[in-house]
Amino acid sequence: MQTTTLPAGVGQNASPFLHGGEAAAIAAVLPTGQYGHGPLTERFEQALAQYLGVEDVVAVSSGTTALVIGLQAAGIGPGDEVIVPSLTFCASVQAIVAVGAAPRFIDVDPATLCVTSDSVLGALSPNTRAVMPVLYGGRSVGLDSIRDVLDARGILLIEDAAHAFGSRTGTRMVGSTGALTCFSFDPIKNLTTGQGGAIVPRSPEEARQARSLRLFGLAQSGKERASITSYAVEGPGLRSELSQINAAFGLVQLEHFSTVAAKRTHLWRTYRDALSKLDTAALIDVDVDRSVPFNCVVRVSADQRDTVFEVMRGQGIGVGVHYPPNHAQPAFATWHRPLPVTDETGRQILSLPFHPALSEEAAHFAVAALSRALRATS
Ligand SMILES: Cc1ncc(COP(=O)(O)O)c(C=O)c1O
Repeated sequence: MQTTTLPAGVGQNASPFLHGGEAAAIAAVLPTGQYGHGPLTERFEQALAQYLGVEDVVAVSSGTTALVIGLQAAGIGPGDEVIVPSLTFCASVQAIVAVGAAPRFIDVDPATLCVTSDSVLGALSPNTRAVMPVLYGGRSVGLDSIRDVLDARGILLIEDAAHAFGSRTGTRMVGSTGALTCFSFDPIKNLTTGQGGAIVPRSPEEARQARSLRLFGLAQSGKERASITSYAVEGPGLRSELSQINAAFGLVQLEHFSTVAAKRTHLWRTYRDALSKLDTAALIDVDVDRSVPFNCVVRVSADQRDTVFEVMRGQGIGVGVHYPPNHAQPAFATWHRPLPVTDETGRQILSLPFHPALSEEAAHFAVAALSRALRATS
């Protein structure tokens, strides 16, 4: 029997990309014994702020934590409604629920899988206190045209930019547009720290709040506490800081970020060109000229999607589905609303293998396999 050798990495839907200096940077932290928040965490925060062109960045232990702390620092809580697309990773919704607020699910634009100004406006209610656009696939979400309306009603914009580190909105970096922006640095994200996340606060006071929330609500830093006999717990907070081990990892990744950005962009364009010859799969557009693409998602016929998924998985190709809609999840049943675009999209989307180590050959291989699977199941 003939066995086919798969191109390297095509079996993984997503994967971290290491540059080579990460292990040494992490190893250098170990003898210091300082594995929690420390000078390297602060160096990482400053490096992020410089890269994004903002005043300050608050590093935390995950992207989910960044969303929770961002919402809390902005004063969102029980009784408040937060508008969020249903088509996102469940983390966005869990963060809203975790602070005691209610998610108000909305539909997305079928071409981009992002919310639009109209979908947001149509969902405003007297209880709306925040809008959480999700920058799906790395694409920025321009809500500038309704910013005045939102501001006038005191509605906050908190961006879930988990997918979008390095992307731009117009000429500005995502994170530098005045919205409260939250990034994830989990293993498969554009920039990884192993696990981690960051908040771009809108003011020094919001930054102070976020720093207090990420470390037990303590008013004093670890260094200050070492030289006093008591400390002040000034408000709520849990242990959510970014460890120095993760910060060391992130500093190396950030130094080489342009390499990753170029590889992701090139790979997405390669997929786009290969997929353009297929009329049975439609590529979700990530605005590649301004984005650092996080994934490569196609829409296929809902009748075929699950079978195509199984066929390709059976061949060892790392396809996935991002994401099963949240309004249909049992945990979020209280907030279910009819969302026809999201329902249909959830049955059609398929994520192709996409990570910086993937070669052009691998992308062509995945598209050829998709094409065959679509023909075989039609
Ligand atoms: C859209 C979105 N939001 C939030 C998160 C949460 O980030 P983290 O895994 O760092 O907690 C993720 C991560 O998978 C995500 O994809």
